[in-house]
Amino acid sequence: MEINRNAFLASQGGASSVDQMSPEAKADAMEDFMMQQLNTRQASQGRLPVVSDIEAQIETRSYRRGAGNLFVAAEGNVRRLPPMPSKPTLVDFFRLRFSVTSNHVLQSAHLAVKNNVPEEIVLACLLHDVAQELIKVDHGWWSAQLFEPYVPEQTAFAIRYHQALRFYEDEAHGYEYPVLYRYLFGEDYRPEPYIEATYKMVRNHKWYLGPRLVTVNDLYAFDPDVNPNLDEFADIIGRHFKQPKEGLGYDNSPVAHMWRSIARPDMPL
Ligand SMILES: [Fe+2]
Ligand SMILES: [Fe+2]
Repeated sequence: MEINRNAFLASQGGASSVDQMSPEAKADAMEDFMMQQLNTRQASQGRLPVVSDIEAQIETRSYRRGAGNLFVAAEGNVRRLPPMPSKPTLVDFFRLRFSVTSNHVLQSAHLAVKNNVPEEIVLACLLHDVAQELIKVDHGWWSAQLFEPYVPEQTAFAIRYHQALRFYEDEAHGYEYPVLYRYLFGEDYRPEPYIEATYKMVRNHKWYLGPRLVTVNDLYAFDPDVNPNLDEFADIIGRHFKQPKEGLGYDNSPVAHMWRSIARPDMPL
């Protein structure tokens, strides 16, 4: 698809905003922009994509849609990654590996703080999508598993189940079905039975509000004017994230290999 450069820059708040973005964030913004253009074209034809349109795209790609951001370049080749310290912390992963998802989760956590969300759930907002660097399919479950040994139980619960809840409206808490999903999944998409069953379980759970607040504070649009910094959350991380002294990936926890896979995605086997 042809890109109108000026329209792209304007959509991101001008050339100087784009200059400040990391290459990954730029590629991501470009992909969003292309999707919007495609959507506008489809809308001008009078329709949203349906599930069969989305399925027809599968064989037009050299990668699967569920592959993690670290494993696929949105444009051109992947880049060489900066080395990790020998005992990496959560902050190191944010700085050196979560480059595509970090802005989105920082914006979501920033909004959650503004909305007076409890700290454990602000932490869930801050971490809810970062496993998408590893894998996008079932990212709520993967993210929760990645963090479970290091965060409060309610935080892991909120991360895991935001994925199912985002398909279901909750007017009382101000959550509407995201318009973006009509484009991503197709207008006639219905969540699979395991998602429906999970939603029903969580809806009646005493911790329902946690994952619901993650969806309420989830931002579906990249806001070029809001650039929260990880420093804003240093205290919350310090109070609620149990950083292993050996470094993430080297503490022999059941999820250590997941951290190593994020740290070293170029290993052949
Ligand atoms: Fe998510
Ligand atoms: Fe999100």
